[in-house]
Parts: sequence; C-alpha cells; structure tokens
Amino acid sequence: MSRFKDAGHLFRFAFLFVVAFAVFLVVRHFVVPRSFGEYGHYRGAAIGEIAAHPIHFAGHQACEACHADIADTKKAGKHATVNCEACHGPLANHAADPSIQPAKLDTAVLCIRCHAASAAKPKDFPQVDAEQHSSGVACETCHQPHSPAIQAGGAK
Ligand code: HEC
Ligand code: HEC
Ligand code: HEC
Ligand code: HEC
Repeated sequence: MSRFKDAGHLFRFAFLFVVAFAVFLVVRHFVVPRSFGEYGHYRGAAIGEIAAHPIHFAGHQACEACHADIADTKKAGKHATVNCEACHGPLANHAADPSIQPAKLDTAVLCIRCHAASAAKPKDFPQVDAEQHSSGVACETCHQPHSPAIQAGGAK
C-alpha cells in the first residue's frame, strides 16, 4: 500500500468535490422554480402568467366597427397600411368603453417619429427634415392625418 502512502490530499479533494456537489443540489432545489423544465428550458408557469396580462391593444377591426368613416378615409389614402393604434396608441380600454376619451395626439412628435429624414431609411420611404419642410407649422395644418398625401386642390 506504499503506493497510496501520500494520497491523503487526493481523497480530501475528492471529498470536498462531493460535498460541493451536494451543496449545489440542495441550493438548486430551493432556487430553481417548481415548474422549470415542465415543457422546456423555461418556467412552465410563465405561460399562464403572460397570458393573464391585460390586453392593451384592441386591434384595427375593433376601431373600424365604430369609426367606419375614418377607416374608409384611411383605406383610400397613403396611410392605408398604418394601423389606428400605431398612431393613437393602445386603446383597448376606449374600445371596451367609448366614454374613456383617447388622448389628443401631438403631431409635432407623432409624424416625425416615422417620417424624420434619415440616411438609414429606404430611399423610397417618404421622409422630411421637419425644420426645412414646415419650420414649426403643425403637420395637420396641411396634411390630413388619416389621408396625408397632398395633391393640387387639398389633402387627399
Ligand atoms: C364601441 C365603439 C367604439 C370603438 C370600438 C372605438 N371607438 Fe373611438 N370613439 C367612440 C365614440 C362613441 C367616441 C366619442 C364620440 C366621437 O367623438 O366620435 C370615440 C372617440 C374616439 C376618439 C376621439 C375623438 C375626438 O373627438 O377627440 C378617437 C381618437 C378614437 N375614438 C379612436 C379610436 C380607436 C383608435 C379605436 C380602436 C382602438 C376606437 N376608437 C374604437 C366609439 C368607439
Ligand atoms: C398616421 C397616424 C394616424 C392613424 C394611422 C390614425 N389616426 Fe386617427 N388621428 C390622428 C391624428 C393626428 C388625429 C388628430 C389629433 C387628435 O385628435 O388626437 C386623429 C384624430 C382621430 C379622431 C378624432 C376625429 C377626427 O376625425 O379627427 C378619431 C375618431 C380617430 N382619429 C380615429 C382613428 C381610427 C379609427 C383609425 C384607424 C382606422 C385612426 N384614427 C388612424 C392620427 C392617426
Ligand atoms: C407609424 C408610422 C407613421 C406615422 C406615425 C405617420 N406616418 Fe405617414 N406614412 C407612413 C407610411 C408607412 C406611409 C406610406 C409610405 C409608402 O407609401 O411607402 C406614410 C405616408 C405618408 C405620406 C404620403 C407621402 C407620399 O408618398 O405622398 C405623408 C404626406 C405622410 N405619411 C404624412 C404623415 C403625417 C402628417 C403624419 C402625422 C399625422 C404621419 N404621416 C404619421 C407611416 C407613418
Ligand atoms: C405648409 C404646409 C405643410 C406642412 C405644415 C407640412 N407639410 Fe408635409 N408636405 C406639404 C406638401 C405641399 C407636400 C407635397 C410636396 C412635396 O413633396 O414637397 C408635402 C409632403 C410631405 C411628405 C412626403 C415627402 C415625400 O418625399 O414624398 C411627408 C412625409 C410630409 N410632407 C410630412 C410632413 C410632416 C411630418 C409634417 C410636420 C412636421 C409636415 N409634412 C408638415 C406641405 C406641408
């Protein structure tokens, strides 16, 4: 047995390793949530929690049911593809109860969020340098928000 005469440090190391692993298992037991791994590498319970979040967006079909006139104007114009709530913000509460008034929009902030000139945008996307284009005059003075293109004779 002289071969293992000086092997004590190896056994101590192996023992420490086993203890550390046991501690890891105990900590893991308390720290990892119960439903983890139920379906995959995430908490199974998270699905129910996310589904329980209140819905903030009503969707354009809901808006169109009550605001058919505006929906028709919009469909015929250049903003046909822009959803109501992309501009008006989430309005599920208003759609459920129309007595809740939507906030007034500030076009000076709103329009330029999409139309500010930038070299990073596709060349064919309509964009303006607000300072040069209208120098502080409100966008809706000349553009009707729901159908913004301007043709000879007025908004279209
Ligand atoms: C159940 C019917 C109904 C639905 C659904 C609905 N609205 Fe309304 N909305 C109304 C009524 C009624 C008013 C208040 C009367 C008015 O000013 O036309 C109103 C007012 C508004 C106003 C303010 C009008 C003003 O004069 O300032 C905005 C903006 C608006 N709705 C946008 C939306 C959008 C966007 C949606 C979709 C998310 C939507 N509404 C869904 C019925 C509805
Ligand atoms: C490109 C942005 C944009 C989109 C898309 C848009 N709106 Fe508007 N809307 C505005 C602005 C700006 C106003 C005027 C300021 C305000 O009333 O808040 C306005 C005003 C309104 C008003 C007040 C009454 C009126 O005619 O001015 C209603 C109601 C309304 N929008 C409903 C809708 C509905 C419904 C849709 C989708 C079918 C829609 N909007 C899509 C920007 C938009
Ligand atoms: C959420 C993004 C978004 C917002 C906010 C927005 N627009 Fe637009 N706008 C678009 C898109 C998308 C088009 C269609 C672009 C296309 O046809 O390639 C468009 C088209 C236009 C056009 C037509 C340009 C042409 O080709 O003749 C004008 C003008 C315009 N918008 C003005 C406005 C004004 C004014 C506002 C504020 C009331 C506004 N937009 C808000 C996305 C937006
Ligand atoms: C004094 C009137 C006036 C005001 C205010 C105004 N515009 Fe215009 N806008 C025009 C006219 C006229 C055109 C069409 C001729 C042209 O392309 O220059 C136009 C064109 C556009 C276009 C299309 C550009 C293109 O390349 O096709 C966009 C986008 C636009 N405006 C956005 C805005 C935004 C955003 C605001 C507010 C910051 C605004 N406009 C304020 C008159 C105005």
